[in-house]
Amino acid sequence: LIRLQVHTKARRHEYEIRIGRGILASLGGELRRCLGKQVERIVLVSNPKVFGLYGSAVLRSLKAGGFAVSPSLIGDGERFKTMRTVADLIRVFVDNRLERNDGVVALGGGVVGDVAGFAAATYLRGIPFVQIPTTLLAQIDSSVGGKTGVNLPAGKNLVGAFHQPRGVIIDVETLATLPQRELVAGWCESIKQGAVGSQTLFKQTTNFLTQLNTGGGLVTSGLEDLVTAHCAFKATIVAADEREDATRDDRRSRRILNFGHTIAHALESVTSYRRFRHGEAVGHGMMVAGELSKNLGFLAPSELELLREGVRLCGRLPPANDLDLTAITEAIVRDKKRTRGHVQWILLQRIGKPRVVDGVKISSLMLRQSLIDALGIEEAGR
Ligand SMILES: NC(=O)c1ccc[n+]([C@@H]2O[C@H](COP(=O)([O-])OP(=O)(O)OC[C@H]3O[C@@H](n4cnc5c(N)ncnc54)[C@H](O)[C@@H]3O)[C@@H](O)[C@H]2O)c1
Repeated sequence: LIRLQVHTKARRHEYEIRIGRGILASLGGELRRCLGKQVERIVLVSNPKVFGLYGSAVLRSLKAGGFAVSPSLIGDGERFKTMRTVADLIRVFVDNRLERNDGVVALGGGVVGDVAGFAAATYLRGIPFVQIPTTLLAQIDSSVGGKTGVNLPAGKNLVGAFHQPRGVIIDVETLATLPQRELVAGWCESIKQGAVGSQTLFKQTTNFLTQLNTGGGLVTSGLEDLVTAHCAFKATIVAADEREDATRDDRRSRRILNFGHTIAHALESVTSYRRFRHGEAVGHGMMVAGELSKNLGFLAPSELELLREGVRLCGRLPPANDLDLTAITEAIVRDKKRTRGHVQWILLQRIGKPRVVDGVKISSLMLRQSLIDALGIEEAGR
């Protein structure tokens, strides 16, 4: 069991991330430590799939910890990350007479965490909340940092709140049941964190992936160490920039986590959010951002090769080479309009050293060429 302390600047929020193998069995005690003695009642938020796999073990262990637990299941998938689901959950909190000192526990991936966290952030102006993330993405990224929220028809994550959890409990063994594509998407996010984080984190990630690809098992002590290193990285970024200060563009601002995202959003949009898991689109997006960095003259070709190899190690991505170049650039322009023309690209100077670059520095010709080279798109008429 590894414990990581998270401090945010305000120091009002200090909590622990506990990472281990098989710790769902001792969840009751872990949760007691996070929530304190006074908490009696818990609403356990999950979805049918995750609850089917881990629900009974979790319920048993929470009851052994002396909690009165009511499970509440939300639909599985991004389409349930809505205000409607939040309203339904809050009704469950009311029915269970949750009070200020009671708790909400999220058992699942990023969707369950974001929805349950937002409901906990708003009910009674905020009640204690604990995350038990069960996807790779949730374990290395979304459960750490305190962002919660839901989508609106007008766009993703448009409503939300910062609500730091009382604790995050990570059992890496839960990743053994994760579908392959969810793993690939999570690995892409881990390459992203390595690429903007540090050479050490990048190397640790690619070493693990190389081992995995040559037949090593997934759930090893290497995995615990890797998840810990990623949580520590995310926690450092969050501690320095809890609310993603829009005026910051330095190498440790929270926005560097958007590496690969400008292109990822465009790819998701031109495929109507049907072809790619978000992390898979980020995989392609990082290749394009790397190509742009090289074409602007500040990323050495050998470093670009390391990035490419890192993305390759994540597994097969759905193809992007059949997509229409103009449709992609138009999607980027639409995104730009939404942000009133301020597109800031997160590019790379080298592995571990991101650089924020103003969109005006990137000509449309260079963007097109980078898309062609990174995604393997055939230009019409070539
Ligand atoms: N709050 C943040 O800081 C933050 C950061 C990044 C992403 N996000 C959000 O996270 C969401 C994506 O999260 P996600 O990738 O975890 O997707 P997800 O929550 O939809 O989970 C993916 C799939 O895996 C299943 N699953 C979960 N755990 C499993 C397990 N152990 N075994 C088998 N199946 C399992 C789920 O039921 C689901 O079908 C998005 O909504 C995104 O906006 C939030």
